[in-house]
Amino acid sequence: LKLYIDSADVDKINDLNQYFPIAGVTTNPTILVQEGKPYLGILSEIRSVIGDEKDLFVQMLGDTAEEIVEEAHYLITKISGNLIVKIPATKEGIKAIKILSAEDISTLATTVYSPFQALLAAMAGADYVAPYVNRIDNLAFNGDKVVTDIAQLFKSYETSCSILAASFKNLQQVQDVCLSGADSVTVSPDLVEKMIDFPSTSVDVEVFKDQWRNLNGENCTNL
Ligand code: E4P
Repeated sequence: LKLYIDSADVDKINDLNQYFPIAGVTTNPTILVQEGKPYLGILSEIRSVIGDEKDLFVQMLGDTAEEIVEEAHYLITKISGNLIVKIPATKEGIKAIKILSAEDISTLATTVYSPFQALLAAMAGADYVAPYVNRIDNLAFNGDKVVTDIAQLFKSYETSCSILAASFKNLQQVQDVCLSGADSVTVSPDLVEKMIDFPSTSVDVEVFKDQWRNLNGENCTNL
């Protein structure tokens, strides 16, 4: 499993990157505008925090395949390191994925709601597809089932495209898709923290330390 941070908050990314096994950062237009600063500056700050090796995903906004391709070419000249171009899973997006993948530019098909969108993106050469799990659940469909079906299709057709599941409201959704065949997940900083934050663990650790102090005094280490 590769774990990505779905955020453009540079301080939070910096903090989480030091503690957790983070593979990179995913952004989208909403996440970038929330920071209230020019997007290229934010992206270069994120890059300097995570380094050139880790993946940085940036979404294209053009309406036509040609506009999307032009944006991708532009961003590649502006952002160093391993950049993955996020492209909406639309008709124009699929065409853009075909063009960019023929140029060996890494792409992710985003805003995926159905297995066919994912399959077409993979056939066009996308490196990743991002099913929007919580947004699918919000439509009274089943985001986890969509991930399961995509995983089954990718296995049947032996595609090398990875499933990077996205859009989560809670850890149950994240856990479900990990069990259903997602190769990667991208989650908000809050949910990354919740993956490790378990009150019973803290209580147990304090009990161990109290018992240790009872025999060894206040020096509560093995040193
Ligand atoms: C993924 O790349 C998207 O940025 C993200 O996961 C969307 O999540 P949301 O539905 O919580 O906005």
